[in-house]
Amino acid sequence: MTDLSPAATPQTPAPSALAMVPFVSVGDMMRLVHREGIDRVLRDLAAHIEADFLRWPEFDKTPRVASHSEGGVIELMPAADARLYGFKYVNGHPGNTRSGHQTVTAFGVLSDVATGYPLLLSEMTLLTALRTAATSALAARALMPAGAATMAMIGNGAQCEFQALAFRALCGIDRLRLYDTDPRATAKAMANLRRQGFEVTACDAAEAAVEGAQVITTCTADKRNATILTDNMVGAGVHVNAIGGDCPGKTELHRDILGRATIFVEYPPQTRVEGEIQQLDPDHPVTELWQVLAGQAPGRRDAREITLFDSVGFAIEDFSALRYLLGRVRAGAAHARLDLLADPDDPRDLFGMLERARPAG
Ligand SMILES: NC(=O)c1ccc[n+]([C@@H]2O[C@H](COP(=O)([O-])OP(=O)(O)OC[C@H]3O[C@@H](n4cnc5c(N)ncnc54)[C@H](O)[C@@H]3O)[C@@H](O)[C@H]2O)c1
Repeated sequence: MTDLSPAATPQTPAPSALAMVPFVSVGDMMRLVHREGIDRVLRDLAAHIEADFLRWPEFDKTPRVASHSEGGVIELMPAADARLYGFKYVNGHPGNTRSGHQTVTAFGVLSDVATGYPLLLSEMTLLTALRTAATSALAARALMPAGAATMAMIGNGAQCEFQALAFRALCGIDRLRLYDTDPRATAKAMANLRRQGFEVTACDAAEAAVEGAQVITTCTADKRNATILTDNMVGAGVHVNAIGGDCPGKTELHRDILGRATIFVEYPPQTRVEGEIQQLDPDHPVTELWQVLAGQAPGRRDAREITLFDSVGFAIEDFSALRYLLGRVRAGAAHARLDLLADPDDPRDLFGMLERARPAG
């Protein structure tokens, strides 16, 4: 554990225990994933997400707060139960990779509801990729056709390998068909996924990628109503895991597919604004994923049904991921401690604490 507070001086004594907040850096997160093994992390995250989805009514929920600009969006995603409060800061800027920036970056906080004090501050760029993949695979486990072994992956950017690994760890899928408009992205994913032991085929068109696939993951980034899948590309019995349509005006599927599919969502008030279903009437029937997991609503009903997980990413998934991470930190996972909270000796003498740090003379 690293202590990141500056050296103590007579004016600024070492911060107290209450001042310090555990911080999981990107380096710490990478060490955690390698120490635990990524399959185990994905399964543990899925278990935490499932456990929280099963107690869905206990949560204080709200659609995320999105601040849109021409090139992207910055979002705050809060969720709380009676004990813990979490939020994530996340951006989505599809043009970013052209300047060497990532499309999605994130960090987040988990706090103690009783005092309001943060318990954990963490990087969440890697954690978002892991939790998104775990959520997708959790949904697919309940919705995909029995015996599915091949997945088409359209969009081979940052999220791609995480999705593939989660689908293998939770759903047993180990054959992949990749397509991206940028062949360099497909080449990158091919190399990474072959090293992970997948059977991978690179395809030169989305139409070719979906051939023979029982699951189709769309994971593209483009700030427009794109048509990654047309109606004729989605055959009977397929499960569609649609990840990239997650903002107003940013969708991936042709509307006709939505008319033929049974649609599963995270939180309807958010998905109706951000998901594929923004293309439909506001009362178009959808099923909430948590209800399927809780046995309160049916998942896939027959082998010919087209199921669609219209994923946008919901705050409870981040809450669950932070809850998992706090458990690992408390069990000794690598982290630093930040001098984040002012902690005066007399809680009402914040000013006195500041004055004692006044430079002499
Ligand atoms: N649902 C969620 O919970 C969730 C979570 C994280 C990210 N996302 C979304 O997932 C998407 C992918 O994120 P990322 O971090 O992998 O982005 P990325 O920019 O790293 O990768 C996106 C890839 O899509 C490709 N692409 C763009 N248009 C395409 C098209 N028409 N056909 C095929 N490929 C195309 C790009 O070339 C790029 O390689 C983004 O839209 C992001 O907002 C959703």
